[in-house]
Amino acid sequence: MQKNHKLVYINGKTFEVLLTQTHIQARIRELAWQIHQSYPQEQTIYLIGVLNGAFRFVADLLTYFPQDRQLCVDFTKISSYAGTYSTGEIHPIIGLKQGLKNKHVLLVEDIIDTGLTIQYLTKQIQQQQPFSVKIATLLFKPQALRTSLQPDFIGFEIEPLFVIGYGLDYNEQGRNLNDIYVLKD
Ligand code: IMP
Repeated sequence: MQKNHKLVYINGKTFEVLLTQTHIQARIRELAWQIHQSYPQEQTIYLIGVLNGAFRFVADLLTYFPQDRQLCVDFTKISSYAGTYSTGEIHPIIGLKQGLKNKHVLLVEDIIDTGLTIQYLTKQIQQQQPFSVKIATLLFKPQALRTSLQPDFIGFEIEPLFVIGYGLDYNEQGRNLNDIYVLKD
């Protein structure tokens, strides 16, 4: 990966800045407050981050939540995304916590594109009869959505374009970038 101040080059593809680190951090600070306020203080939020992409978003949300917020944190992962969108093929979920009955679950995604991943995860979690399931996503591509499921908390709505950085990858590269970049051309 090569990088100058505005462009990143990975495997022959060029990416340009879409959202700066400052912009992202300011928005996450707002979102953390919004999420915190939507749950009464006595309710514990069971936050479940979807790996790999959401690890940075989860970490920064935790930074900005009030420090006395009652919160549990866990992560889950869909074993593979290959072919999932077009075929609707089901892939096993790894590491999904049991014992969510009557809990307030907050699923945290890096990006919602077709929405099939989050729909599948939500259905699996619903089987445990939680009290509530809400969805927070840093990025949302409304024009790509193929389900009726709507996120409850959205960082940024973006065009249906391919993006990397801040946890999001292209061929496993680019997750370390602090800004979010969009594929040029
Ligand atoms: P969905 O099931 O189509 O909503 O896709 C969700 C997953 O696809 C995300 O968690 C990402 O891992 C991946 N994904 C979707 N769009 C992008 C993108 O623009 N860049 C990188 N990964 C993406």
